[in-house]
Order: sequence, then structure tokens, then C-alpha cells
Amino acid sequence: MADLLLGQVLCFGDDPFVVGPDAARHEAHGAVLVENGKIAAVGSAEALRAAHPQARITDYGRKLISAGFIDAHVHYPQTAIIASWGKRLIDWLNSYTFPEEMRFADRAYADEVANRYLDLALAHGTTSMCSYATIHPESVDAFFTAAQARGLRAFAGKTCMDRNAPEGLRDTAQSAYDDSKRLLQRWHGVERLSYVITPRFSPTSTPEQLAALGALWREHPDCLMQTHLSEQTDEIAWVKELFPQSRDYLDTYEAQGLLREGAVYGHAIHLTPREQDRLREAGASVVHCPTSNTFIGSGLFDMGLAQSLRVGLATDTGGGSSFSMLHTMAAAYEVAQLRGQALHPSQLWWLATVGSARALHAETKIGNIAVGMEADLTIIDLASTPAIEQATRRAGDIWQALFPTIMLGDDRAIAATWVGGKVTR
Ligand code: GUN
Ligand code: ZN
Repeated sequence: MADLLLGQVLCFGDDPFVVGPDAARHEAHGAVLVENGKIAAVGSAEALRAAHPQARITDYGRKLISAGFIDAHVHYPQTAIIASWGKRLIDWLNSYTFPEEMRFADRAYADEVANRYLDLALAHGTTSMCSYATIHPESVDAFFTAAQARGLRAFAGKTCMDRNAPEGLRDTAQSAYDDSKRLLQRWHGVERLSYVITPRFSPTSTPEQLAALGALWREHPDCLMQTHLSEQTDEIAWVKELFPQSRDYLDTYEAQGLLREGAVYGHAIHLTPREQDRLREAGASVVHCPTSNTFIGSGLFDMGLAQSLRVGLATDTGGGSSFSMLHTMAAAYEVAQLRGQALHPSQLWWLATVGSARALHAETKIGNIAVGMEADLTIIDLASTPAIEQATRRAGDIWQALFPTIMLGDDRAIAATWVGGKVTR
């Protein structure tokens, strides 16, 4: 039976970074018809009620019906170490991240954290994500099994590291290739799951390992490839020492066949002009992780890149300090302010939905409300706390009504999520 969801509907007909806020479409008394897991119609409540009298109605009143949030860069194994105090990137990795990731050799622990992470993500309105696992193949099985059980469109891969990581968290060039290939063959394209080739970052991969993963990517060109790029200045200095022959950080990937469309680079803060040009020419994606960049003290992302690159938005759990894409939008707003740019709420919302979908080359399936797209929806209460409610009382348009939820909202603002046409909570 078809479902007809009534409420305020927000979707995008265009890119607000190109055409401004008019890129968004807002229907104050709107409706979304969901049938067989897909969006079958979008329009006014009046018109869709008349056209589909048999549909089962869920009336969300003044709440906002949006595409579900897409978190384009997370580390689900870092769920339990989110908000660990006081370190910069490399010692944060050594002190908190690597000891925690070591525990994922235990499949039962991996299952427990994968389920916990996905429940938290859904509670925060995130219906798709692109995750790093750990070096353990079982950590990928755990994640995809948990995502499959929830019917999610999810992306993930085994994190590969063959140097500068502790004993027990290192693979080799050959085993990274073999394990990644086996996992890819097992999971890629199964239901809504996609395998992502995942070298962690150049400091923890030898050129041989990067080359082996470049070869694997050539054999499976429809996969994404994700890694980290130019997050902190001391990390970049380390890359320079480790790869003296490379022109810059991006070149360490480019030289091994790890730069082209479908490459998804997390952070990408301290880019040289050559790196920016090459990213553009190659059609690569970058992912902005603003709560992580302020929390670990990495730097201020240049949102000007959104004019010419696919830019996604992400929590970077657990380097990021929140599971919430609302918090993440707020942090993106603040980071841009510190660079002299006031991002419009339409741009923030677009980044968390269409922008992330585009970064993951999934924009024809998820990230927007349009006929034929998969019915992953998040229902937002625009007055979820007394503080937010009082700030919206004099709102004159949807952006004034939405911005307090962007800046002050959290999981209490998530009234419901729909995944693949089914309500989950
Ligand atoms: N660079 C390499 N690994 C990581 C990680 O786990 N988190 C963050 N923020 N940066 C990284
Ligand atoms: Zn990361």
C-alpha cells in the first residue's frame, strides 16, 4: 500500500551554491507519496490527497519532510571514543583511535558497535553514510550486516595500513589487495550496499600498498575510493618526509592511480593551488568535516571549493565531536564565517543531503525528494526544544524557521526517519 506523508516539504531543484536559495523548493502544505520503497509523487497536500485517496496517510502537521541526511565520511569503529579529550591528529590516532580499532579483531565487538553506531545515526536523522571500518575484514562484514538489516544505502570499506600503525593493526600490500577484493566481491552491489576501496591515508600506507589498491580500483572502476587528504599541517610535513619524490600530498595518491572521478577525500583543508586544480580536472570529491576540524584543531575548510568540486558534509565520527548532521551544519556555518563567508541555510541543508549524495556519486538515488528516488526521509520538528521554539515564533519564511534548528538542534529535532519507504522510528 502507498503511504502519503503530509507536512512541509523541502527539496532542491538546483544547486544553491550556483543559483542561490531559489534552488530550493518549499511546499508549506506539501505531500510525498511513497510506494515500493521509492518516491512516487511530490506536490501539494491537497492535490496528492485528491489523486491518491487510497493511500495510508501520515500527517506530520507543521513538521518538515526532508531527504534523510547523508554523512559522507565517518569511522563507525570510533563510536565509543567520540569526544576524547585533548590531542592533535597524530597523537589522537595513537592514543585513542588505534587502541580502540584493535578491539575490532573481535567480531562480536564489531557487531555490537556497528549496531550501536547505526542506531545513533538513524536517531540523528542520518539515513546513509560512507564509513571506514578497521583493518579487520570482519569489521566490514559487521557493518554491512547491520546496515543490510536496516535496509540502508550504505558505503564502507576495509581500512588499509601497512606502516606507522601498531602491531595488530597492520596488513600488507598484498593482503590489503586480497582482503579488499574479497570483501568487494562479497558486498558491492548487494541490496543497497557499496564497497569503497579505503587506504587510510598516505602516512600509514607504503607506495606499494597504494599501488596495489590503485590496481584494484582499476579492476573495479565503478567503486568509490576514499582516503584522507591534507587535514593538518604537521601531517602534511610528515607526508613530505615519507614521500620525498612527490610534488604534494595529493600526488602521493595520484602517482598510484588513486585520483580520478569516484575518489572521495576527507578534509582537504590545506590544499596547494596545484592540488585544487588537479582535484577539479580529475572530477574528485572532497568532504568537509567541520566539527572534527575544530575539535582536533585542523583548520578552516575553504567552502569556495563548492563552486567547482563535488563537496560533501560529514561528522567524521569520532574525530568529529557529534553524530548530528545538524551540529555539523552549524559547525560548517561557523567555519565559513571565520573565512568571511555566511553560508545560507539552503546551502547548509543542500550539503547535508544533495551535496553528500553527489560526493558519493549517488545523487540519482538518494539525497533529494523527487519522483523515482529512494524514499529515505527525515522528518524534522522545527520547534523541538523551548529554546528553538521561541526563536522561530516570528519566522517569516522557511529559512528563518529552519535556521534555529540548524544552529541549536540535535536528535530531539528528529521526529521520524523513513528508510527505503518504511518508517523506522
Ligand atoms: N587521518 C587518518 N586517519 C584518521 C582518522 O581516523 N580520523 C581523522 N580525523 N583523520 C585521520
Ligand atoms: Zn576520517
